[in-house]
Amino acid sequence: MNLQPEIINLPKFEDPRGNLSFIEEFKHIPFKIERSYWIYDVPGGQVRGGHAFKEQQELIVALSGSFDVEVDDGKVKQTFSLNRSYYGLYVPAGLWRQMQNFSTNSLALVLSSTHYNEDDYIYDYNEFIAYRRGDEE
Ligand code: TYD
Repeated sequence: MNLQPEIINLPKFEDPRGNLSFIEEFKHIPFKIERSYWIYDVPGGQVRGGHAFKEQQELIVALSGSFDVEVDDGKVKQTFSLNRSYYGLYVPAGLWRQMQNFSTNSLALVLSSTHYNEDDYIYDYNEFIAYRRGDEE
């Protein structure tokens, strides 16, 4: 099971009229996009998404402003600062992740490999650690 998050450099067409970037499923990301959602108007100091997904893979893009994504495989935590609209953070399934340090007016786009499914969430950190251990056995 791939547990390695990675920054994906998205295509960027620089143009005096304004820049353009895009994402194509299976080309820039290794999954089919089943859902898109976005997080915005985040008050200063708030944290979003403190949980893990069992199945959902995702790509997170800071379309505007900046924020940090902390990704935890149960042993190692990595923090990625997203602040460019041509960087995407690919987060495989099975990782704990939270988003924090949102700048004013930041806009987080999340492309997901699944439809919304409450049963896919692990909300309890201890449960997540137990889930990871089960995976290693
Ligand atoms: P949630 O995933 O808990 O937010 P966070 O990213 O901060 O963990 O989602 C917040 C609420 O929005 C929750 O009640 C479920 C709902 N929701 C949907 O109905 N569809 C979706 O695609 C998402 C992401 C959330």
